[in-house]
Amino acid sequence: MNIQDILAGKPVTGLPMGHYIDGCFVQGSSGRMMDSFDPGRGTVFAQFAAGNATDVDAAVASAREAFETVWRKTPAAERARILLKAAELIRANAKRLAIVETLDCGKPLNEALGDVNGAARSFEYYAGACDKLQGDTFPLPHGYLGYSVYEPVGVTAHIIPWNFPISTTARGLAPALAAGCTVVAKPAEQTPFTALLLAELLSEAGLPDGVCNVVTGTGAEVGAPLTTHPHVDQVTFTGSVVTGQKVMRSAADNITRVVLELGGKSPVVVLNDCDWEQTLTGVLGAIFENAGQICSAGSRLVIERGIRDRFLEELVARTKTLTIGHGLRDPQFGPVNSQEHLSKVAGFIDRARERGAEILTGGAITADPETGQGWFYEPTIVADRPCDDELVQEEIFGPVLTVQVAEDAAHALELANDSKYGLVAGIYTQDISNALSLASEIDAGQIYINEYFAGGIEVPFGGNKFSGFGREKGLEGLKSYCKVKSVAARIG
Ligand code: NAI
Ligand code: MG
Repeated sequence: MNIQDILAGKPVTGLPMGHYIDGCFVQGSSGRMMDSFDPGRGTVFAQFAAGNATDVDAAVASAREAFETVWRKTPAAERARILLKAAELIRANAKRLAIVETLDCGKPLNEALGDVNGAARSFEYYAGACDKLQGDTFPLPHGYLGYSVYEPVGVTAHIIPWNFPISTTARGLAPALAAGCTVVAKPAEQTPFTALLLAELLSEAGLPDGVCNVVTGTGAEVGAPLTTHPHVDQVTFTGSVVTGQKVMRSAADNITRVVLELGGKSPVVVLNDCDWEQTLTGVLGAIFENAGQICSAGSRLVIERGIRDRFLEELVARTKTLTIGHGLRDPQFGPVNSQEHLSKVAGFIDRARERGAEILTGGAITADPETGQGWFYEPTIVADRPCDDELVQEEIFGPVLTVQVAEDAAHALELANDSKYGLVAGIYTQDISNALSLASEIDAGQIYINEYFAGGIEVPFGGNKFSGFGREKGLEGLKSYCKVKSVAARIG
């Protein structure tokens, strides 16, 4: 895949066709195809299979069979070798995977490369954990023996969003496979390709047929049947609150386990004594990376009054220098994922204007300056809004930062927690006791101190409140794919 050829409009070749079921690419049962768009140009660049319940049945049957007959019986050390090999193959194919990721979801190439490396890290990390998944013994009275074992939950479904296709797929698949589960993944209909490529690489790494399956298509036609399927034991879902609620409701029919990673409206608390440079860089990246389409984006700047004016002046100046363009030209700022999403983001700002909001920078739809094409929204900062404002409370999932002014650290805490979400909070201060006290009082699944998005696959990740429940990443993430069995025996 050559970037210059793609940008010159040559057809993109070498993309996978069909679903990935039982170790190979197969056509969808209906024969229907869907278009995949390149957000950087707003044009179709490829097609993929529009799956349905029949395809889901085939994938789940394959995963079930592989679970019962092969994967749960495969020694942990062998699972580890396969996952480690997968990490190696992901790295060897990093450039190709990143180009496909950028084409499909729009993000700048270096961000896509970061995601691909992160995917490799997920497999590497959980490869190392396969043979360390050990249970406990319990101090029962004399004449008894009590112990526990971690067993794989079985067939796991992974419903993936369009903002981090390969990294979300990897962070779900790697621990599931490490625990001994088999998988059916459903990538978002906006970004189907890297999950398919990943499944192919896993086979190349030695994963037995049927252990990892991918069915492409819409949420209604593929996602919904997965959540109600009697042979799916767990659904890991990342996406919107509304769809998460649907997933949870339909999973209830079969008492299917769910892990829900939903959205956020995460505050970045900036106190007067912050390190200036560190904080500016952090706040900028927290909202404009991936054009703000990150569940954990820092979309509310909660700033202490003493530095508000000077900080915003500098932040706005830096925002205006961000380079915009097609992701494959590797700008600092790329498009949003779809026309529909672009309208949604624009709607938030249009309504805010009607309410009299002051837009400090940005606030308009734009295009790739080289071509005049694509679905771009300017990096936008909106001055101080009250707590009950839509821009403060609702997830925009785009490049829009809303400012809230705090009188002191206690007020900052109050503002930070005034949200139905509880995914992430950033804290910038050089006073460690203030930082740790805020970290302890803010209701969020993770806290970043003095570096937004700090940490990696080692650190558990997940939400509180409307941001969901269950944890991914870290050893907690591995346990999400295990059932604890305890055994108590009378032996005397
Ligand atoms: P969505 O939550 O509907 O889509 C996420 C995934 O769920 C996709 O794979 C989709 O096909 C699937 N899905 C949709 N309906 C389903 C159903 N009934 N059963 C099972 N699976 C289903 O998100 P959408 O519509 O793409 O975006 C809407 C908004 O959601 C965005 O504007 C953003 O605010 C938020 N969002 C949040 C994400 C996050 O990481 N927290 C990721 C994507 C979107
Ligand atoms: Mg696409």
